[in-house]
Amino acid sequence: MSTGHGTRDPLGVAFFGVKKMKSSSYGIGKRKDFLIFGAPLLKQAEIDEVLAVMKSGWLGTGPRVAQFEQDFGNYKGVPHAAALNSCTAALHLSILAAGIKPGDEVITTPMTFCATANAILHAGGIPVLAEINPDTLNLDPEQVESKITPRTRALLPVHFAGRPCDMDALCHIAERHNLKLIEDCAHAIETEYKGRKAGTLGDFGCFSFYVTKNIVTGEGGMVLARNAEDLARIRVLGLHGMSKDAWKRFGDDGYKHYQVVECGFKYNMMDLQAAIGIQQLKRIDAQWQRRREIWQRYNRAFADLPIALPADPEPNTRHAFHLYTILVDELRTGMSRDAFLESMTAQSIGVGVHYLSLTEHPYYRRALGWKPEDCPNAARIGRQTVSLPLSAKLSDGDVEDVITAVKGIAARAFHAHA
Ligand SMILES: Cc1ncc(COP(=O)(O)O)c(C=O)c1O
Repeated sequence: MSTGHGTRDPLGVAFFGVKKMKSSSYGIGKRKDFLIFGAPLLKQAEIDEVLAVMKSGWLGTGPRVAQFEQDFGNYKGVPHAAALNSCTAALHLSILAAGIKPGDEVITTPMTFCATANAILHAGGIPVLAEINPDTLNLDPEQVESKITPRTRALLPVHFAGRPCDMDALCHIAERHNLKLIEDCAHAIETEYKGRKAGTLGDFGCFSFYVTKNIVTGEGGMVLARNAEDLARIRVLGLHGMSKDAWKRFGDDGYKHYQVVECGFKYNMMDLQAAIGIQQLKRIDAQWQRRREIWQRYNRAFADLPIALPADPEPNTRHAFHLYTILVDELRTGMSRDAFLESMTAQSIGVGVHYLSLTEHPYYRRALGWKPEDCPNAARIGRQTVSLPLSAKLSDGDVEDVITAVKGIAARAFHAHA
């Protein structure tokens, strides 16, 4: 069954350390409708804006993309931002604009979506993994430092779940070793570190508006760059390598010739997508407040269960509350993580896994020789982690359903385990 976030792993066989039972036998207050993991909160304003785009006849890249870029730049307190069709595209073009050449090494985290490593590979770079801090799930700066070689050219940290990385330490490492710093802010639109906004601390900041993200455009991404020339190059690379403002060529002031100045990509955002983003951005703080409320409600409800809860946000930071991840340790609970996923699904609650360590995937093992033992914290956490629904769309009743399901499964599991 879909959890709203792609495919899931094969399910485990052991239920709570006891014989496998039919999941329906748990039948405790099961919801009628399936609670989709990561469903976005969409309102009439988004529908009206999309309709207006359709009526305007200009569906592709145009004035609404320009407006969304300006609004996002204002939100981040920077003069310019470039919209693209995904965060993957934003990462790819940032890595190219950072000057990464074939064979150059880029240090990143194993606790991320595959797009982070794939973007490095597509740009010709070699992703090098550093271990994470098991509490924050972010890159451990000491481990990053230990991976630096003469071929290292950039760091690519991910602000996991919206918790900022230790940016003082990472910026310091980048400065000392003359490395570019590209922030993967896919989870981190609202994130702040010591009063500074995520995506403005490094050379590049890359954002996602994928359907499960904190604000959505369906598919969509945005790049910030410290250097205006880098951002200008990203704009050109994102639209076939055509000269500046080529999208205006069909506008009402007549046909404009364009020049192809680089071999670029088809990575542009459409006005249809930007229309959703413009309205979503207006509600960003209200949605953040709601997710924070849900996060705190979960913390109170699960405080006594033998599962690990996410660490509290660090002082002097703003957590974006993108994911609420618990750890189900079979040794403590008598229940495998995958059995827990199956039980939640049987209760009609969608769940996610963020993430199996990148070292678990066959492609990277084959192509790069990665092994789970390379990053044992990431491997262990990747095998125990479960993301619970945290969308601003959740009603109080939905949140209570999630809590009832987790507690019900836990009560049976731990009883059987004891
Ligand atoms: C950490 C991280 N990086 C990159 C991406 C890629 O984002 P997009 O789907 O917008 O390409 C995602 C998306 O799930 C992500 O979670």
